[in-house]
Amino acid sequence: METQRQLDIDFVRSQFPGLDHGWVFFDNAGGSQILTRTVDRITTFLYDKNVQIGGSYDVSQQAAKALMDSRIAATHLVNAARPEEIIFGSSTTVLLQNLARAMRSQLSAGDEIIVTISDHESNIGPWDGLRDMGIVIKFWPLDTTTYELDIAELKPLLTEKTKLVCVTHVSNILGAINPIAEIAAVAHAHGARICVDAVAYAPHRAVDVQAMDVDYYVFSFYKTYGPHYAMMYGKYDHLLELDPLYHFFYGRDKVPGKLEPGNPNYELAYSVTGIVDYLCELGTRSGGSGSPRELILAAFEAITIQENALTERLLSYLRSRNDCRIIGETANRNGRRIPTISFVFEGQNSEDICKAMDAYKIAIRFGDFHARRLGDHVGLPQYNGAVRVSMVHYNTIEEVDRLTAALDQILGSNGALQNRGAA
Ligand SMILES: Cc1ncc(COP(=O)(O)O)c(C=O)c1O
Repeated sequence: METQRQLDIDFVRSQFPGLDHGWVFFDNAGGSQILTRTVDRITTFLYDKNVQIGGSYDVSQQAAKALMDSRIAATHLVNAARPEEIIFGSSTTVLLQNLARAMRSQLSAGDEIIVTISDHESNIGPWDGLRDMGIVIKFWPLDTTTYELDIAELKPLLTEKTKLVCVTHVSNILGAINPIAEIAAVAHAHGARICVDAVAYAPHRAVDVQAMDVDYYVFSFYKTYGPHYAMMYGKYDHLLELDPLYHFFYGRDKVPGKLEPGNPNYELAYSVTGIVDYLCELGTRSGGSGSPRELILAAFEAITIQENALTERLLSYLRSRNDCRIIGETANRNGRRIPTISFVFEGQNSEDICKAMDAYKIAIRFGDFHARRLGDHVGLPQYNGAVRVSMVHYNTIEEVDRLTAALDQILGSNGALQNRGAA
């Protein structure tokens, strides 16, 4: 029988110096705390290798190697087939805008792109912007009772003109994992490609771009224990087809450089080696062994166990209140939920709740989190947005209890029902 992984929470918390300041950080979907070793890699690059790559001299060669090591680390992180499939950029928003720009010459008027109403605007706006060249944008709707994207509703939207399906791996409000491999298979069967926003997923579960068979896959490191930086995976052959975004003398075959205009930020790219290093050590401490990829998988198994416990603790409290509406699935069925949990309280302004929480040194956030279309669709404006509690593996059950005790004080516990724990 396979033994369950254990998360070494003391080790985990010791790796994030920001956790030492007395705050409970429950705004991780906004931005996570950063790893010491990630910061160390940035300073190592800046102090020891801070020159332009491409020179013949030793330090320049070391800088080039550091950049390649960064791509290799990211390759392990997402299980890409080769390091050239990794494109670095300043943010997910910019990478998706760049992708839309680089696809222009392969699109023509009348072509169709499908987006979802549950996405962050980063994976809608750049595609919507292609309407100016006659691209037809179709919205895959969301069922507001189940909060699910139903594949049966995607299928009739697909035609022979569909070029791309753009979908989030997890909504940064709803918190449920979308079946990306299944969606990719449906898109591919219709001759379309798939572009996935994984910002709200990558901090929580192991990514395997090859197993999902995705075409483009984008996320940000500042929510994945690193600095303000981001990456896009693209299948190598697709990247070759994209239009160069750099100088005219960078041709189509200059992958990934043609898609990193002005070069990547070397020191921030190098920080990714620190994220992967941490995950490998965590994997070893969780009982894993073998290659970096195997250790990453072991780390995320342990992370998942911790996150499922946090998710259940908070959901069971929220379900027990008769004044709370959870915006998303109310239970973590089949481990489908990550611990990003949004909710509203009847008759309450979400901003007031978050501000009251500040006094408890518990960092949470309210709003629509730039998923404006989704927020409007599920009726958030009347509450001034949702309250969002977004946890990661370094959070603890004690912190969840601190939050729920504070909620009881702020709102009164009279909203609490007797059947606490019932789904
Ligand atoms: C789901 C999701 N997608 C995209 C983004 C945008 O990422 P970035 O800030 O790197 O542009 C965010 C940021 O909050 C997000 O939560």
